[in-house]
Amino acid sequence: ASTLGAAAAQSGRYFGAAIAAGHMNDSTYVATWDREYNAVTPENEMKWDATEPSRGSFQFGAADQIVSHAQSKGMRIRGHTLVWHGQLPGWVSGLSASDLRTAMNNHINGVMGHYKGKIYAWDVVNEAFNDGGAVGTLRSSVWTQKLGNGFIEEAFRAARAADPAAKLCYNDYNIDDANANKTRGVYNMVKDFKARGVPIDCVGLQSHFGNPPSNYQANIAQFAALGVDVQITELDVGGSGSTQADAYRRVTQACTAVPRCAGITVWGITDKYSWRSGDTPLLFDGNFNKKAAYTSVLDAL
Ligand code: XIL
Repeated sequence: ASTLGAAAAQSGRYFGAAIAAGHMNDSTYVATWDREYNAVTPENEMKWDATEPSRGSFQFGAADQIVSHAQSKGMRIRGHTLVWHGQLPGWVSGLSASDLRTAMNNHINGVMGHYKGKIYAWDVVNEAFNDGGAVGTLRSSVWTQKLGNGFIEEAFRAARAADPAAKLCYNDYNIDDANANKTRGVYNMVKDFKARGVPIDCVGLQSHFGNPPSNYQANIAQFAALGVDVQITELDVGGSGSTQADAYRRVTQACTAVPRCAGITVWGITDKYSWRSGDTPLLFDGNFNKKAAYTSVLDAL
């Protein structure tokens, strides 16, 4: 196959990119998206501050732009993200515990309801675990402070009810090393959810890399063994040249080696628009030329 999406499709996988609605007036950007990728994640447009900037009033204009385009091309759509401590509007942090619980459920129902039946997978909860500390500790946020650690389970239960057809993912960074404390915490949560029948279908490894850990494939395999899909959800690799290309190859091979690794999403198309400013972490350079990393990914799919 001669494109990323078609190469991934040969094994039933997808290859997606994060897309920003604000760049859709760049025709080369859209042409590259359409040619190479068969999946999309809106980079910011489905986040809480974009979709519910004031309580109970939902706005989907920018996200709809991406979703309609993706649907017209038959792409899979990843919804990102419902419950996160980041990009939250101010009104959320001022709520009492019982109002916050109501608002969380209302947000999940409002956003998932609007896109019901159109979304392949939702990042239901994003980045809830702590970077340091003991295994299983959560990051302190408005969610833990007011709802306690059970907010994750509550969110997944509400999400299953809101759109039973969507795969429900837990998404995080620094859960790529098979043995890291943060990874163990997420692993234990998924195992517990499976044992108790809390709905969860996938784990998203963001994978914002310098150097991917050597046990990355083993890590994908250990999550898959719990009975969930693994999705590489926000891949980008700092650097350039053959070092970067080799890292991208290893990540791609780690996914294709594990049957339940369902697909890969890179966090943007071109270095020109990457969120990692000052770095060149993507597969196309600032002029939309294919980089060495592009070729190594295509070959590895
Ligand atoms: C980033 C976007 O790429 C930026 O445009 C925005 O300013 C901040 O958020 N983990 C996530 C993503 O789950 O939502 C983040 O996206 C990158 C880190």
